Amino acid sequence: MARDPKKTKSEKKVTRYTFDDIKEPRTPETGHTSLLPAEEQVVTLPMDNGWSKAIEVGKLPEGDKRPVVVDMDPAADPVLFWAGKRNRREVPVLPLQRNEIVSESRIAQIIERARKAAAEKSGAAQQGHLFADLEKTLRETDRSKRVEFYTHEEGWKNKLICGDSLHVMESLLHYENLRGKVQMIYIDPPYGIKYDSNFQQRVDSTKNDEKDQADDVLTIKAFRDTWALGVHSYLTYLQERLYLCRELMTDTGSIFVQINDENVHRVRALMDEVFGGYNFCSIIPFRKKTMPLGAKVLEQMHDFLLWYAKRKEDEQGNLLAKYRQLYLEQDVQGDFHWIWFELPDGTRHQMTPEQNANHALLPSGARIYRLVSMYPPTYSEKSVFRFDFEGAPFTPPAGACWITGPDGMQRLADARRLQKEGLHLRFCLFLDDGNAAKLTACWNDTIGPRDKVYAVQTSADVVARCVAMTTEPGDLVFDPTTGSGSTAFVAERLGRRWVTCDTSRVAVNVTRKRLLGTVFPHYALRDERRVSGDFRYKTMQVTSLATIAGGLEAETRTWFDDPVVDRGAIRVCGPFEVASLGRYSVEDWKGYVVGNPGIGETAKLENYIVVICRLYRKDAAIQGATGLIHAVAETEKEKIAISVGPLSGRVTGKQINDAVQDALASGILEVHVLGWAFEANVGEVKSQLEKRGKVKVELIMIRPDTLAEGLKATQPEILFSPLALPDIEVAVEKNGKEKRVHVTLKGVALFDRKRRTTEYKSANSGYVSAWYLDEDYDGDCFVDCQMFFDFKKAPNIKAALKADVDPEEFTLKLTSEPFPVRGYNRIAVKVVDVYGNESTIVRDLS
Ligand SMILES: C[S@@+](CC[C@H](N)C(=O)[O-])C[C@H]1O[C@@H](n2cnc3c(N)ncnc32)[C@H](O)[C@@H]1O
Repeated sequence: MARDPKKTKSEKKVTRYTFDDIKEPRTPETGHTSLLPAEEQVVTLPMDNGWSKAIEVGKLPEGDKRPVVVDMDPAADPVLFWAGKRNRREVPVLPLQRNEIVSESRIAQIIERARKAAAEKSGAAQQGHLFADLEKTLRETDRSKRVEFYTHEEGWKNKLICGDSLHVMESLLHYENLRGKVQMIYIDPPYGIKYDSNFQQRVDSTKNDEKDQADDVLTIKAFRDTWALGVHSYLTYLQERLYLCRELMTDTGSIFVQINDENVHRVRALMDEVFGGYNFCSIIPFRKKTMPLGAKVLEQMHDFLLWYAKRKEDEQGNLLAKYRQLYLEQDVQGDFHWIWFELPDGTRHQMTPEQNANHALLPSGARIYRLVSMYPPTYSEKSVFRFDFEGAPFTPPAGACWITGPDGMQRLADARRLQKEGLHLRFCLFLDDGNAAKLTACWNDTIGPRDKVYAVQTSADVVARCVAMTTEPGDLVFDPTTGSGSTAFVAERLGRRWVTCDTSRVAVNVTRKRLLGTVFPHYALRDERRVSGDFRYKTMQVTSLATIAGGLEAETRTWFDDPVVDRGAIRVCGPFEVASLGRYSVEDWKGYVVGNPGIGETAKLENYIVVICRLYRKDAAIQGATGLIHAVAETEKEKIAISVGPLSGRVTGKQINDAVQDALASGILEVHVLGWAFEANVGEVKSQLEKRGKVKVELIMIRPDTLAEGLKATQPEILFSPLALPDIEVAVEKNGKEKRVHVTLKGVALFDRKRRTTEYKSANSGYVSAWYLDEDYDGDCFVDCQMFFDFKKAPNIKAALKADVDPEEFTLKLTSEPFPVRGYNRIAVKVVDVYGNESTIVRDLS
């Protein structure tokens, strides 16, 4: 018999969620932020809900031996104090800059290629490019729009930001127009003051290798919680960020702070101060360890979530915070309450202990139930009456009453929902009545994450519950402590918009890879055009004592954490942008003198260029520097000219060229150019200069959090890392009029500061973590058209395809797919090494 042709076409649709219906101001592209007005640069962050006015510190006269008192207005709430606590702070506001747009999905491309190969084999028609539409919009022909940032609106894109959360949050408030727009914030800050287990140095491993630590050129401390004043700095760090979070939250919004038992009490006191104790919603212990590790005393197996609302209730006590009750499937095997069952013939029996322990031993068709008290906790005299059941009279015991009136009791009896137990009547609650357990505050059913990609990764299930309880699809979720991007990952899965930031490049790169390497279920939308129209969810009919006694229909209960999955589709990550802080902390550097900080004070710094040069080389001499050479470091063996890039822009090819000419004029043959960001063509410039003369040029990245306040001054090798330059080969084939190109990544040239040599690492040496290709680079924003990295675990896409996927697709391929030459006649390649360092090279195709 011929097969139904429709049935053989079981190919799944590949989808993604986008949020074009929600508009946002356009973020500037890399390097354009210096065009923004300068007067908006510093704001005062108030960190005072009245506490500073309520305190008085008793100062006793000299020689007075009475105890010192800190007095406080008893009308105010008690507050926590620590060294350096302040009630306001000046914060520079730095705009974001968009460095990259991820418009494609690695998985979608793999599927597309496998389908194309299968179609070519069978001669069937090929499907067009899956997500070409967005890329087209991004390649705007009207480049004048580029400088209209923050005034020109475009469709919302999720954001992965590299930068300190303090500045990022200020930027979200002041430039990105997100004040009062964030529905939920999840923060998983460093847990406290023990460091080593907390940071991850490599994108590809959660283990820190001693070798990496020793290698000063490559080490990036991805997790730098070296707080100058220990827990005091920690509280300042959190205080500042929590006050900013409050500004970002909607009135119905929630914040969750993840913390362990070491500091949970302090953080709760601080959150009471920032949000008000009346906005406390819950403290949720969630299980992290499955096995005790061997504590000296009673071992803690849980971490904690402190949940506060921006405004929990209105003046009348009505709940204002967005909240969706979640439910848990009940597992009653072994539960001493659930010991009864009813057979299909209507007979009722008590389980044996063996049957209770193992429900497989119950006869087939058994409906499990339990007996529930008919006496409510509150007493009403009206509800005390005699009720006859199966020929015997029943009355509530002294001090108790029935839960329902005589009619209700009769309805329960008629529905066969009453049962005698000794002298009492009980209600029969069946397991299949749909009375799933309400999710309550202690989460014993959670465990640490499986297949961890980050040393301190949170279980996605924990974050997912918080997201599902307090937000709806389309709502905005923010996490200022990205790590492996668990919050972004969960938000992406559940159709929420997200913004996340981290100072660590390892974290940013782990997150990007995680998002691009995952297949998500496609949840069926109520309104096919908008994710924010909500999903369709699993529902359940719930029968209860109240519905039966009241003669009511069963209630419908929605499982908000269980949307209906459209099995005809699979979903890949939607487009997102990768951004960083555009103008670096100018104010932190103005007119200060380097000095030792007093308690609670920050190290003050003299002059931007002097400080950067000294941080880079202690022996840098500023005298004698000319033009673009800002300092010279000289030892017996070497003489190095140092040039520092601008605070509010990228190091350009011209700066490098001019610095080299200035150095040569002074007879110096080695030039180090330090910068916060580099134009993409700097690699070309460096190699041309080196080819032309005997000069050696090193390009050094300054870490984005180098200027962060409160952090201990750290060794230069942590603050600076050399820019690794990609070595690529571009092959152009001409077919009639059409030119097609493919790019091969050959390796990365890397400067080893210890040995003072430039090392060449070939692309397959295990040193490259990922690379990305922009097929038509516009000179401003890198668009990820093709992406290459290996999957530790192949994503589950077989079901979406009729064809098999070439296993090579899941490895780090070194040659791109061919592509046509387009408008800008120029490509860019971005390489990420295993330490999270990124470097870009541009090639002109003309
Ligand atoms: C405990 S981890 C978060 C792990 C995350 N929940 C996950 O599931 O992977 C904390 C993260 O905060 C980052 N971090 C610490 N201080 C920061 C700051 N001032 N700004 C931004 N990120 C910061 C660290 O780099 C680290 O990745």
